[in-house]
Amino acid sequence: EVVVLDYGGQYSQLIARRVRELGVYSELLPHHVGAEEVRRRKPKGLILSGGPASVYAPGAPALDPELLELGIPVLGICYGMQLITLALGGRVEGAEIGEFGRSELTVREPGRLLADLPREQKCWMSHRDTVYEAPPGFTALASSTASPVAALENVERDIYGIQYHPEVVHTPFGHEVLQRFLLDICGCDGTWSAASIVEDQIARIRAQVGTGKVVCGLSGGVDSSVAALLVHRAIGEQLTCVFVDHGLMRKNEGEQVISAFRDRFQIPLVAVDAEERFLTKLKGVTEPEAKRKAIGAEFIRVFEEEAAKIGDANYLVQGTLYSDVIESGGGTGAATIKSHHNVGGLPDDLQFELVEPLRALFKDEVRAVGAELGLDERLVWRQPFPGPGLAIRIVGGEATKDRLDLLRDADYIFQDEIRKAGLYRDLWQSFCVLPDVRTVGVQGDERTYGAVVVLRAVTSDDAMTADWARLPYDLLEQIASRMINELRDVNRVVLDITSKPPGTIEWE
Ligand code: XMP
Repeated sequence: EVVVLDYGGQYSQLIARRVRELGVYSELLPHHVGAEEVRRRKPKGLILSGGPASVYAPGAPALDPELLELGIPVLGICYGMQLITLALGGRVEGAEIGEFGRSELTVREPGRLLADLPREQKCWMSHRDTVYEAPPGFTALASSTASPVAALENVERDIYGIQYHPEVVHTPFGHEVLQRFLLDICGCDGTWSAASIVEDQIARIRAQVGTGKVVCGLSGGVDSSVAALLVHRAIGEQLTCVFVDHGLMRKNEGEQVISAFRDRFQIPLVAVDAEERFLTKLKGVTEPEAKRKAIGAEFIRVFEEEAAKIGDANYLVQGTLYSDVIESGGGTGAATIKSHHNVGGLPDDLQFELVEPLRALFKDEVRAVGAELGLDERLVWRQPFPGPGLAIRIVGGEATKDRLDLLRDADYIFQDEIRKAGLYRDLWQSFCVLPDVRTVGVQGDERTYGAVVVLRAVTSDDAMTADWARLPYDLLEQIASRMINELRDVNRVVLDITSKPPGTIEWE
């Protein structure tokens, strides 16, 4: 394992991912955890990330000097290198001119870190403070247009630094530098992979639950599906999955989940058809937050009832991901834009001990594990779908059975065309929204007064920000004409061209 300490840089998560892509397990920890915590994890190396502050700014995150005495190799990137330089007696100063974006790196003395790499290379920079002199005992390895010292090392002390960002794609030899550090310098073996995660997690799950009974709330999304499969692989029939069909799913989705788990993997699965219950709760509810709360509360009620029937289960599987862990750790009382409901968000007071086999993984790693476990590719690559389902895509009105069915049919056509066009995986999400408005049309010489379907398709990396997808015009035309021809009530199709921010991805 390698620890990445996060000094607040915008690329910190990316560093952790790049390390993992090189087959080395990495964890991103906040910079203030201190040397003791790092030592406890027994990592083979330590990376100090970049950060937005100046090392001289009041309150700027400081370096715990003990971190350089752990007896493991240390690599400072950008702010991380400046911290090392300052701590060990080199010279860091604020420069008049910053260095942002592409820059030319000249390797003057390759040393250990930059050995066998081209003398001249491009790299990506993003800094204002600059290292002018390496600390005593260090070798300055490279310079760039604006940085007299753009890389440095002290092989005896096993401390290295680079001013540029090896983790971004715009640094062509960044991969090689990270590889050099991790495999050659830290001595990592680079064999961490989806298969090794599976083995490791199976052992952990067995150790945690012993012969206990376990329940898992299955939504059909990739996280809860992979979590359930892993747990089933570990403890077999001690696991029961509960799938609450709230009637707000997409077309055929319920059947797909049931057949994937019950038929294909023979996992004990309780499928609850709770459509009626949810529709009753949604009667007359139009306000978005009220809708979300009604669905969330009913979901917990149904789940609790079913879990109670299973009897003496002490453990609950949750598909919590690493990004959820990082985000909730860094939460600083941000405004509630929407109250999220999802299967993974069952409340703690359900009186279960949690089993969270995906807690250390990023989404793409979860997909890799899913594929390794033989999960259908349709489920492995499923786009995110909100816990409250289609109900929050019926906007400004009540989610009735009729409207849900109409939305389901429109959504089916949209998905079908997106898949046929080979775009499904490129889009973060593609779905329809049904606003509570009618518009006038003319069809077959007759006046119509029909429903409007909104197409919403976005690209995104993490749903925090998103851009509206530039779908080809011909495809849009094909989708619109299919919807209007095949769906009797629809006479108009419109495209949402709002990014996030200012819009959110969903309309409610
Ligand atoms: P917004 O609309 O806030 O959505 O930009 C960001 C991402 O979260 C999904 N989403 C939800 N997921 N429960 C979920 O599990 C929810 O209540 C919920 N609301 C929104 C949304 O689809 C998008 O991917």
